[in-house]
Amino acid sequence: MSYDVIIIGTGPGGYVCAVKAAQLGLKVAVVEKRATYGGTCLNVGCIPSKALLHASEMFHQAGHGMSALGIDIPAPTLNLGNMMAHKDATVKANVDGVAFLFKKNKIDAIKGNGKIVSAGKVSVTAEDGTVQEIEGKNIVIATGSEVAGIPGVQVEIDEKTIISSTGGIALEKVPETLIVVGGGVIGLELGSVWSRLGAKVTVVEYLDTILGGMDGEVSKQFQRMLAKQGIDFNLSAKVTGVEKGDKGAKVTFEPVKGGDKVTLDAEVVLIATGRKPFTAGLGLEEAGVALDNRGRVEIDGHFKTNVAGIYAIGDVVKGPMLAHKAEDEGVALAEILAGQHGHVNYEVIPSVVYTQPEIASVGKTEEELKAAGVAYKVGKFPFTANGRARAMLATDGFVKILADKETDRVLGGHIVGFGAGEMIHEIAVLMEFGGSSEDLGRSCHAHPTMSEAVKEAALATFFKPIHM
Ligand code: NAI
Repeated sequence: MSYDVIIIGTGPGGYVCAVKAAQLGLKVAVVEKRATYGGTCLNVGCIPSKALLHASEMFHQAGHGMSALGIDIPAPTLNLGNMMAHKDATVKANVDGVAFLFKKNKIDAIKGNGKIVSAGKVSVTAEDGTVQEIEGKNIVIATGSEVAGIPGVQVEIDEKTIISSTGGIALEKVPETLIVVGGGVIGLELGSVWSRLGAKVTVVEYLDTILGGMDGEVSKQFQRMLAKQGIDFNLSAKVTGVEKGDKGAKVTFEPVKGGDKVTLDAEVVLIATGRKPFTAGLGLEEAGVALDNRGRVEIDGHFKTNVAGIYAIGDVVKGPMLAHKAEDEGVALAEILAGQHGHVNYEVIPSVVYTQPEIASVGKTEEELKAAGVAYKVGKFPFTANGRARAMLATDGFVKILADKETDRVLGGHIVGFGAGEMIHEIAVLMEFGGSSEDLGRSCHAHPTMSEAVKEAALATFFKPIHM
């Protein structure tokens, strides 16, 4: 059997590429070494963490936020087993959904470890050791990423006491104390989950800000909100050691600028210091596929590697490690392979942190515009002045819009607030169409909605908001 496309890896990049390619009439095979499809995102990443973020937020609200709405209930008790069962059921529904899509689109799904033998040939080693070779005109590397660990520090992750995100969604009990190494997305999302469930959480972060790379105003406000929720922060602190200790594990860190070392103990330590491209055992060296200086598969503007007929998408190539970026690359590449003109607009990729409140961002930050010397204007609107937010006791946060000073074209949007991850998309769509803040401010928004704050921020960008 010879395929038009063989895709190695069935995460959001690989499975979406497969479905799109099949929809466009190509004969497709996917190769997956996990027992279930969907990659890190569906099995141990985005999807299970969102199940736990939602459930833990409900638990927290039941314990803290109901009486102000006139609902008096006794303090809730946690059934962590059932919460984990909800998470597992959510994962199962999603990974089964991918299996269904493969069947529906007549995609051959082959279980086993895929290795590129040469352009056009992939060997698949099944769990029982049997090897089969499949042939295809095109090969797509969509193998994703793995935990990077702490640069320069030897850490033994046992997923019980010293954990990565994988252990962080599967703890059997709520630890009394949790140290999170890394104040990025994973650290703050999973830190929030265990903090809401009762753990005392301390974040140790190398940079002088959490969520490095986000708009500075957003990360500062957000840190204050998390501190109010009870999370402690040690910023500008470089972790130099993580090892098992009497109480569980201990973390040693020192001020980035130099100074005395500090050691903290905790029942559990979460390592959330980034991810790296997964390329091991793929036969890339033998096949002559080049990597860049950061160990990512090197591609051109059309996802082509240096070897004809071999392509790569998702976390294994450059760009943000985000499921939706990988999906869009999967679609674009499938279109290219089918003779169309697939394209990804990297300027408009939203990013969301699913804490409470949520943080959502698209396009440029104020810091990026300053550094690039772009003349810009800013419009802001707080949820404290939004009627719907008041009615829902969700007044924490604000919307910030950045537009070109001369043309008014929107260059970036940043939202801190309940439902930010949904609201960001109207700014993203506007930016895709090259829209201005006036376009957004003059678009009718339903009342009363949280999204009216987006409209008001746009009004504030090109003239003045009404409700402030
Ligand atoms: P990250 O890159 O977001 O954050 C890692 C943090 O660790 C950085 O702030 C870094 O300064 C810090 N760090 C590194 N070495 C350190 C040291 N020695 N001491 C103290 N701090 C140190 O990585 P994270 O959170 O592990 O996430 C990995 C990837 O997964 C990211 O690319 C992220 O975008 C993606 N992801 C996205 C999610 C979302 O979109 N909601 C959710 C979860 C993950």
